[in-house]
Amino acid sequence: MKRTILALAGTVFAMAGHVAAAADLQAGRAAYERLNCASCHGADAKTSIDPSYPVLAGQYADYLRVAMRSYQRGQAGAPASSNVRTNPIMGAFAVQMSPEDIINISAWLESLPSDLKTVK
Ligand code: HEC
Repeated sequence: MKRTILALAGTVFAMAGHVAAAADLQAGRAAYERLNCASCHGADAKTSIDPSYPVLAGQYADYLRVAMRSYQRGQAGAPASSNVRTNPIMGAFAVQMSPEDIINISAWLESLPSDLKTVK
C-alpha cells in the first residue's frame, strides 16, 4: 500500500514537472511587458485603456492560444474561417509573438487573479 502511494506520488510529481517545463510563467510575464501588451490591456491584463478591449487575466490558456494564433493567421492573409481573426490592432501585435511567447504568455495570463471564471 505504502509502495503504491509512493509510486502514485512519483507520477504526480513527474506530471507537474512536465507541465512546468512546457510553459514558463515568468517568461510569459516578461514577454507581455517586452511586447507592450500592457499599453492596451493594462499591466494586470484586466484594466484596459478601453472597455471594449477584452479582459485577458484569468482566461483559459487554451482559449488565449487559439485567439493569438487566429490573429496571426488573419494577419498572414489566411482565408476567412473560424480559426482566423482579422483585427488590424491585434493582428499587428500578434505577429510579434513567437510560438514560445504564445505558450508562455497564455499560461501567465491564465494564472492571474480576475473575475473571469467558470461558475460551477
Ligand atoms: C494597441 C492596443 C493593443 C495592444 C498593444 C495589444 N492588444 Fe490584444 N487586443 C486589442 C483589441 C482591440 C482586441 C480585441 C480585438 C478583436 O475584436 O478581435 C484585443 C484582443 C486580444 C486577445 C483576444 C482575447 C479574447 O478574449 O478573445 C488576446 C488574447 C490579446 N489581445 C492578447 C494580446 C497580447 C498578448 C498582446 C501583446 C503581444 C496584445 N494583446 C497587445 C488591443 C491590443
